[in-house]
Amino acid sequence: MIKLLILGPTGSMGKLLSSLAITDGEIDVVAACDLTQIGKELGSLVAIDDPNKIKIKDVNNLQEVINETKPEVVVDFTVAKATEKNCKICVENGIRCVIGTTAMSKDFLDKFEELVGKNKAPAVISPNMATGVNILFKISGILASYLKEWDIEVIEAHHHRKIDAPSGTALKIGEAISESIDSNLDEIAKYGRARGPNKRLVGAKNEIGIHSIRGGDIVGDHTVLYAGPGERIELKHQAHSRTCFATGAIKAIKFIAQATENRIFSTSEVLGL
Ligand SMILES: NC(=O)c1ccc[n+]([C@@H]2O[C@H](COP(=O)([O-])OP(=O)(O)OC[C@H]3O[C@@H](n4cnc5c(N)ncnc54)[C@H](O)[C@@H]3O)[C@@H](O)[C@H]2O)c1
Repeated sequence: MIKLLILGPTGSMGKLLSSLAITDGEIDVVAACDLTQIGKELGSLVAIDDPNKIKIKDVNNLQEVINETKPEVVVDFTVAKATEKNCKICVENGIRCVIGTTAMSKDFLDKFEELVGKNKAPAVISPNMATGVNILFKISGILASYLKEWDIEVIEAHHHRKIDAPSGTALKIGEAISESIDSNLDEIAKYGRARGPNKRLVGAKNEIGIHSIRGGDIVGDHTVLYAGPGERIELKHQAHSRTCFATGAIKAIKFIAQATENRIFSTSEVLGL
């Protein structure tokens, strides 16, 4: 059984993940920490019978919780600043991390990679754990390599509670495209188009547009538009519910518990794509 610590169990992803983890025969949920609902039974929060009857603990006491419960793997779907603080503590304790939170800083990611090696605690970091999206990462780059003279734009839509923009997934699609056409996304990305004269630079080598829509309870849509002279191709992924992300996270937990290389893995590697 994999001894699992859940960070952010009261959030949208955290709740779903908690219910899948509690009922999974290979996972033993030993602790759950958050800022809210402290003292509440996790099982009653997610309406599942939890044999361990664990209570949500204050994330500010994370080190104590780790000392008491000795988790082997932690899963984190929270907010970037919290992940940067808490997953650092976890990896320093030799705990293997599965991080779904998006928009962590580059500085953190660089330092985290060092900590993974130093503490021999491999990790999965993935802005999107859905199988279909990881296939989209792959094919959007392949398609771009044939269509670099065309204009390529990425359009994403999410619920109005989402903090970061653009989505980590849209950025990763942009990176997959720019890598496949030997360009640097930081130099050519155009994030939205403001009112006024705003002509596009023609061709994906010169510009990749990335646009964010926020509204209602949209779980997550990503469209990659390849527009050429007289024709266009659109690749589209739509998440119907958060289950595709949560089942991806469960796969990542099982994968990282067995990993033998001390490095950061992607969901593509978890899925063997
Ligand atoms: N990788 C993926 O497949 C995937 C899928 C969906 C969402 N996400 C990402 O997961 C994250 C969470 O998404 P969500 O929709 O569940 O959000 P949410 O707002 O519903 O939940 C956020 C959770 O973080 C906790 N939290 C907030 N501030 C905290 C702090 N300072 N310390 C500790 N905990 C804190 C909240 O209490 C809550 O439990 C976001 O970054 C989102 O982009 C990733």
